[in-house]
Amino acid sequence: MIAAPINPSDINMIQGTYAVLADLPAVGGNEGVGQVVGVGSHVTSLKPGDLVIPADAGLGTWRTEATFSEENLLKMPPGIPLTCAATLGVNPCTAYRMLSDFETLKPGDSVIQNAANSGVGQAVIQIAAAKGIKTINVVRDRPDLQRLVERLKSLGADHVITEEMLRKPEAKDLFKKVPKPMLALNGVGGKSATELLRHLQHKGTMVTYGGMSKQPVTVPVSALIFKNVKLRGFWMTQWKRDNVQNKDKLRGMVADLCSLIHQGQLTAPTCQEVPLEDYQTALKDSMKPYISAKQILLM
Ligand SMILES: NC(=O)c1ccc[n+]([C@@H]2O[C@H](COP(=O)([O-])OP(=O)(O)OC[C@H]3O[C@@H](n4cnc5c(N)ncnc54)[C@H](OP(=O)(O)O)[C@@H]3O)[C@@H](O)[C@H]2O)c1
Repeated sequence: MIAAPINPSDINMIQGTYAVLADLPAVGGNEGVGQVVGVGSHVTSLKPGDLVIPADAGLGTWRTEATFSEENLLKMPPGIPLTCAATLGVNPCTAYRMLSDFETLKPGDSVIQNAANSGVGQAVIQIAAAKGIKTINVVRDRPDLQRLVERLKSLGADHVITEEMLRKPEAKDLFKKVPKPMLALNGVGGKSATELLRHLQHKGTMVTYGGMSKQPVTVPVSALIFKNVKLRGFWMTQWKRDNVQNKDKLRGMVADLCSLIHQGQLTAPTCQEVPLEDYQTALKDSMKPYISAKQILLM
């Protein structure tokens, strides 16, 4: 292994609150990038020197060396920066699927999302921008908000607003500039999700993929009756399992994402690279609020 990020789901696995838990003793980490150093005699698709990422969750990537079966790995094309490869298999794939599988969006349409500065959020901004879809990005207020707003706009975000601003009546003015979204992406839950629903178009869909606030999603009755909104969930691990017989679908998505990386339209999330020896600091930092940087362990 060369590099592997610390994601919230890795922490949840350690805490024992995630939907899949490894048998102990186990190695943590679900994504990352490694380099093949040797292959068995029946391996046909990989050779020493290839850069690879896991094709599924649960392989345990916070380690220096591992033996994996060929079908559990995806080969990276040349020219993919290490931090991009290390963070490609979960968050950008989740963003890609959520933008494709729930509503038919065309250029000029809009999407609203919370946790817009998360790894998923940054990928949503960039993939949507590449498709000509406008994004309304909700973040939590913080002392250096302006810096964050500028950073997200440099990735292609059309609008960046705080949860508090979204609650004010003036927030309606935003929808004079962009069409009301048919798709809302919720990685937070609680009041933040309720706010997204308020701005969703009639018959629109809210996809919940994360619950960073640890609060349940509260849905106003009027959103269901008068707006007939659809509430859906998404889990990348399940999608990969559902498509395990059709690996071409996964490979096709990863190839599309790599082509965005080659064209400079998709970059790695803002990150902090930490030597593996300093994993304790990295784990602590990964759980701090407002840090806005993904911790990446360098082996
Ligand atoms: N369903 C799936 O397949 C799938 C796939 C990937 C990720 N996820 C989930 O998506 C979420 C984000 O993952 P990630 O790797 O993108 O995260 P990340 O890069 O570590 O970022 C965490 C995000 O959560 C926000 N946050 C933290 N605590 C919060 C709170 N109490 N209230 C509101 N926002 C809060 C942070 O905002 P601040 O900067 O304001 O702290 C930041 O935007 C996680 O819940 C993860 O498990 C799900």
